[in-house]
Amino acid sequence: TQNQADISRIRNISKVQFGNYTLYPWYFSPYPESFTQEDLMYICEFCLCYYGDLKAFTRHRHKCAMQHPPGNEIYRDDYVSFFEIDGRRQRTWCRNLCLLSRMFLDHKSTYHDVDPFLFYVMTTRDEKGCHLVGYFSKEKESADGFNVACILTLPQFQRKGYGRLLIQFSYELSKIEGKLGSPEKPLSDLGLLSYRQYWTENLIEILLDFNEREDKVSTEALASHLAMTPHDVESTLQALQMQIYHKGEHKIVLPMHLIKRHEMLKEKQKTKPKRMIDPARIQWKPPV
Ligand code: ACO
Ligand code: ZN
Repeated sequence: TQNQADISRIRNISKVQFGNYTLYPWYFSPYPESFTQEDLMYICEFCLCYYGDLKAFTRHRHKCAMQHPPGNEIYRDDYVSFFEIDGRRQRTWCRNLCLLSRMFLDHKSTYHDVDPFLFYVMTTRDEKGCHLVGYFSKEKESADGFNVACILTLPQFQRKGYGRLLIQFSYELSKIEGKLGSPEKPLSDLGLLSYRQYWTENLIEILLDFNEREDKVSTEALASHLAMTPHDVESTLQALQMQIYHKGEHKIVLPMHLIKRHEMLKEKQKTKPKRMIDPARIQWKPPV
């Protein structure tokens, strides 16, 4: 019944210790009940195993030898690394990742069946190891052409530009595959905000570029440059009111205020450059 469905969604964990951080979950996550009964749950930040009491957790930390996610490191710059992890080969780790992320992702249901997914996990490095910052999952074969299933920046790292790096990385992989990609729907509010921002920035950038070279723009050309679907290009242009219908033709216009805003952002970036993924550093071939 409706009531039962609602009750199962009530947040079941009040506080989690994770590495040097305390996390305050937003949503229900299906951890076994015996682990969620204390005020504080402990999660090992490397193997993602969970513990209901401090003693067991401390014992685990003494013997846990992991210092980075499993799988292959497929990207490294002076800021972050990316690891590619196969859900089938690293079932436990990936299930634990899904349980962790469910605390902050309301609407996605898979956590048990991780086999059909690859996980792209972004970390920062220090002398202690590679620390999980965020990730996205991707279906090995998506009938709908989705290049991201779930995407998450851990809350302690949100609003620092990491989500933008995750999104860019997902499109860089699509470019290497020679495919157009789109995130799985529905998007959460935060997901939509972040994607809109990414799409807007990149479309304006490329339109200014096209404009300078006096190339002819079309939705298809924009889409293939950015590995975006024509649908996402159109919806972004529409949201920005950049499409007009003139003398029987659809035209794309760049309003002055958007150019100005873009130039202002560029100016700001000279003092504090925005982090970007350097596609040349991606060591990856599409899985066959
Ligand atoms: N309020 C307003 N704008 C926001 C917010 C916010 N809370 N969060 C992100 N944005 C927009 C901003 O324009 C921001 O750019 P700016 O900071 O230069 O203004 C832009 O998105 C990118 O922000 P980042 O800092 O790069 O993104 P972040 O690291 O916070 O990650 C993410 C975004 C992954 C969506 C994060 O909010 C998150 O994990 N949320 C919880 C899980 C979730 O909802 N995931 C998406 C589900 S949909 C899906 O999985 C396909
Ligand atoms: Zn561990």
